[in-house]
Amino acid sequence: MTGAAGRIGRMLRPYLPEISPGWRLTDRERAPGVEPLDLTDAAAVARACRGVAAIVHLGGISAEASFEEVLDANVRGTEHVLRGAAEAGVPRVVIASSNHATGRHDQRSLPDDAPPRPDSFYGWSKAAVESLARLYHDEHGLDVVCLRIGHCLEKPADVRDLSVWLSPADAARLIAASLTATGYHLVWGVSANTRRWWPTTGGEAIGYHPRDDAEVFAPHLT
Ligand code: NAI
Repeated sequence: MTGAAGRIGRMLRPYLPEISPGWRLTDRERAPGVEPLDLTDAAAVARACRGVAAIVHLGGISAEASFEEVLDANVRGTEHVLRGAAEAGVPRVVIASSNHATGRHDQRSLPDDAPPRPDSFYGWSKAAVESLARLYHDEHGLDVVCLRIGHCLEKPADVRDLSVWLSPADAARLIAASLTATGYHLVWGVSANTRRWWPTTGGEAIGYHPRDDAEVFAPHLT
């Protein structure tokens, strides 16, 4: 796993043994149980890819930043991961994309594979990574799932989250399903929210069955 010291990486920690044994956790930042790995260092990423069964790629810049910053950390960083996987014979990569890759569309009923329409340089970097992953799938046969994550946090923080929330437990279910998928998939990363904007089609196609519903938190949100 890349980006293991980040928010989603930390939330996933308790679930990891259920998903698979023997995780190697990496991040640029130091954290207990996490190996240092900078995604902008192609040689280090290539070394880290050797001998692993699959890669869950969460690392990178997770908010709006300059074009140069997202180009380096997100696009080049992901290219290093995909290239490292292809060279090391790692068959499967799960990539954290974002709803910001399609953030300029009307969100209601937007399909999992809606064409990119980014709302920021950050969203553009995620759209770029999705198509880069498609190239590595087509050219090198990597199985890839790109997760268009809504908002993953312990509990919804505002009314928008009632539609886009991904609970930590459902994030774990989504990653577990993604680690069994073959082919190339774009999948919404969202829980079974009553008010969800996005369909369940892509998730169901890879065996993702979310259980949590943000609606239980609705009385506490305005
Ligand atoms: P985060 O910002 O908390 O964690 C990202 C991690 O990546 C950090 O620990 C950071 O140190 C690491 N990182 C950044 N640049 C790096 C580099 N050059 N080399 C190695 N590691 C580097 O983000 P969070 O919330 O955990 O998100 C994880 C992934 O999911 C990100 O790719 C983010 O864009 C995506 N995502 C997250 C959403 C959310 O609701 N949290 C929503 C949509 C997408």
